[in-house]
Amino acid sequence: LIEHTTARIVAPLSAYGAQPALTGPGMSALVAWVEEIAALTQPERIHWIDGSTDENDALVSQMVEDGTLIQLDPRKRPNSYLARSDEGDVARLESRTFICSEDPDDAGPTNNWAAPDEMRATLQPLFAGSMRGRTMFVVPFSMGKIGGPISQLGVQITDSPYAVASIEVMTRVGLEVTELIAQGSPWVRTVHSVGAPLAPGQADSAWPSNPEKYIVHFPESLEVWSFGSGYGGNAILAKKCFALRIASVLGRDNGWMAEHMLLIRVIDPQGRAYHVAAAFPSACGKTNLAMLRPTIPGWTVETLGDDITWIRPGADGRLYAINPESGFFGVAPGTGAATNVTAVETLWGNVLFTNVALTDDGDVWWEGLTDEAPDHLIDWRGEDWTPESGRPAAHPNSRFTVAASQAPSIADDWEEAVPLDVILFGGRRATNVPLVVEAFDWEHGVFLGSNISSERTAAAEGRVGELRRDPFAMMPFCGYNMGDYFGHWLEMGRRAETLPRVFQVNWFRRGADGRFLWPGFGDNSRVLDWIIRRLQGEADAVDTPIGRVPAPGSLNLEGADVPQNDLDELFAIDVDAWLEEAELTDEFYDLFGDRLPAELHAQLSALRSRLIRA
Ligand code: PEP
Ligand code: NA
Ligand code: MN
Repeated sequence: LIEHTTARIVAPLSAYGAQPALTGPGMSALVAWVEEIAALTQPERIHWIDGSTDENDALVSQMVEDGTLIQLDPRKRPNSYLARSDEGDVARLESRTFICSEDPDDAGPTNNWAAPDEMRATLQPLFAGSMRGRTMFVVPFSMGKIGGPISQLGVQITDSPYAVASIEVMTRVGLEVTELIAQGSPWVRTVHSVGAPLAPGQADSAWPSNPEKYIVHFPESLEVWSFGSGYGGNAILAKKCFALRIASVLGRDNGWMAEHMLLIRVIDPQGRAYHVAAAFPSACGKTNLAMLRPTIPGWTVETLGDDITWIRPGADGRLYAINPESGFFGVAPGTGAATNVTAVETLWGNVLFTNVALTDDGDVWWEGLTDEAPDHLIDWRGEDWTPESGRPAAHPNSRFTVAASQAPSIADDWEEAVPLDVILFGGRRATNVPLVVEAFDWEHGVFLGSNISSERTAAAEGRVGELRRDPFAMMPFCGYNMGDYFGHWLEMGRRAETLPRVFQVNWFRRGADGRFLWPGFGDNSRVLDWIIRRLQGEADAVDTPIGRVPAPGSLNLEGADVPQNDLDELFAIDVDAWLEEAELTDEFYDLFGDRLPAELHAQLSALRSRLIRA
């Protein structure tokens, strides 16, 4: 799915897909691998993706013809399509995601581990013949701009044309990548099958998949094998599987970092630019913050990325960041004019939607797009829907897939590496965690990152609710032992000469009455303003046991609707509740045994001492 505006005559898909006539040291290895996977999966045809607009048009037309995609009315939303998945294939599956290192301790306590040999034996019969009757696509892709200094190459083999179209939006796909591989550039092997072979003459379903699903990573041989699912992170292997799980291992071994972070440029009223990366767990508003429209005058936020950031030390001793992706795979529900008008504008055309509702006039709708639902829709399952139906019209994890370049907020130079000034860590915390806290130093910042967690509801007075831990928002995405990962963060801090400043933020604190205390969305710019003025030495902070918080009056609240009582609650530090939370942190840290860096135990002890003294 590539940007195009005029309808053109499209040649059939079979007119494309020949193996590129390339030679070079890497080409024979690539061809041998493709042949090996074809011998295993036995597709009807092999199609080498060249990434051209014509080929993409043919692919999309074929999917419309096959019933995989519904074309939206081009007068409403040009070059845009809707896919409906199988009801059992609607999200990433953490329980079916495996890290297969030789030593289980290298996968660590927070990943599902299986022995590599045993997993290969499990996968072999599943993949054997799994592409019968289908086309096997060979999709060469680059994470980061092609040939860029922080970029990495990969190839995905897949029997899902929907996955191909998605990868073409989310990454840089094409012949130039194959050329680099042919010349000998390293690349990562990823194999994907929906696991639904077709017998001769058997009709296909609109969303082929298999009830048995495996999303498997071999970190030592840098391979991904995914079976049975066609959805999102299970099927677009460049994203979570490669750019986070495999890349985190590459980063550990080569002195860089692959993080579950958005990346933005914040420009102050004097025109000074700062780069901010922010780690939040899934569904905590990364895409919204990436596309923030400040409510305070004079400030601008430019988007660089909304989900993944790769970070590498530069020659000048600073840390440099890129967004390795080239598109957004965003959750649709909750995206509307009030929450993220930039996203709504980004979605004007050239969008691949999945599991949203279809309107009677050939457009899409989801909960939160408008205040009022249309009177009639076809829901994500393909059934009639009215506001009285009593169920959501769009699946809660329905998505849009759209090129990053289409965001009106995208930075002109968004494909270039930028020096990192600030790192934010945030979760969805109803209690304890203030709106914003500055870390005392890098080590304390790593401590804060290791403690990212979410709780659904405000707990009783003086207690914390049930915490779902998601350190660095990487719990589902770290491809190795998370204790070692904490150590890698500490190590990166020792290596860089000039480190970003680290802050913890929480947009989700609730009052005693259960209300959100902070308006969020555009008003989060007030927190960014304070953070940037801290960097400039122009905003005051006060030390507390948990970090530095804004001095009274230093947060710009002009024009905001935040009563003083709410502000007090937003920054309240309940020593007993924090000591209780420290207890929970201790239990969590115990999980990692001797893989937990001593520095983090020391940070926890220091926090307890500061709390007791307070
Ligand atoms: C995904 O499933 O590919 C994905 C982007 O997940 P999440 O939104 O949870 O990060
Ligand atoms: Na692309
Ligand atoms: Mn994510």
